[in-house]
Amino acid sequence: MGKNFRRAGAAVLAALTATALVACSSEQAPQGGGESPAEGGSATDTIVLGFSQVGAESGWRAANTKSIQDTLTKENGFDLKFSDAQQKQENQIQAIRSYIQQQVDVIAFSPVVETGWDAVLEEAKAAGIPVILTDRAVDSDDESLYESFIGSDFVLEGEMAGEWAKEQYDGEGYKVVELQGTTGAAPAIDRKTGFESAIAGSDLEIIDSQTGNFTRTEGKQVMEGFLQKHDDIDLVFAHNDDMGLGAIEAIEAAGKVPGEDIKIITIDAVKDGMQALADGKINYIVECNPLLGPDLAEIAEKVIAGEEVQKRIVVEDQAFDQEAAKEALPDRQY
Ligand code: AHR
Repeated sequence: MGKNFRRAGAAVLAALTATALVACSSEQAPQGGGESPAEGGSATDTIVLGFSQVGAESGWRAANTKSIQDTLTKENGFDLKFSDAQQKQENQIQAIRSYIQQQVDVIAFSPVVETGWDAVLEEAKAAGIPVILTDRAVDSDDESLYESFIGSDFVLEGEMAGEWAKEQYDGEGYKVVELQGTTGAAPAIDRKTGFESAIAGSDLEIIDSQTGNFTRTEGKQVMEGFLQKHDDIDLVFAHNDDMGLGAIEAIEAAGKVPGEDIKIITIDAVKDGMQALADGKINYIVECNPLLGPDLAEIAEKVIAGEEVQKRIVVEDQAFDQEAAKEALPDRQY
């Protein structure tokens, strides 16, 4: 079992480290954009890292998995054990227990829902195995149960979506339907909160809101239901691109024009979403950067080396309107 990290793969890591991170604490330099701690030293042990992924529910998730698998390679000093929880908390808990049993060096996971992790995280702590959260946070009073969280500010993403909606459509009495992410998941809770707080005081009104579980299929099904129930929908706020893309299919099948008859705002900015935005079928997308592999590698190396790490590392996201999407698409990595 490796207790030091291999100082290798500097060029690969540097090339892969595309994510711009904003440190919450001002005392420490931002992670992920500068020199990697993996640069320059001699080879020692491999870090065995057990990663429990949420699932394969969206284009975002596929890009996130690829970033992790492309970065945590043997050449970069990692032995990655990867499992897909198929959007089920019990599968993640089972995977984490199995990593504890295998005595991996580090456990990392993206929690499908926010609550219910304390018991298994206490088991990891008792076994002396550090835990890193990626993408989604846990709701726990005990911050000692994990070393660091790396991911986006989901409340801010919801706010950015709501601010744009307000700026464009306030005063027109818009009726909004919301396609929520997985019930109990941090991005679903936080994006809803952010959007609602941003449109407060405007005349935009959320007339219906249901989960589409972050998938294209369920987004389409829920949108079909909304269209049958309401004949006055002006705007869809979808918590991710995939559900927005499902909504486009439902809107077109109902004989309406997405992006015109019914406006659409989504979050993620993966290629398919950006293409639909450039094609005029989506009106605005707030980015959620999935390229977390290089930052996870860096934090894992620091933790194993006994270095201090930031408790919360926030990834910076941008937003795109239709013109910006046309410009960004040719260089889009995911
Ligand atoms: O946790 C990030 C969210 O999970 C992404 O926005 C969504 O596409 C994914 O399923």
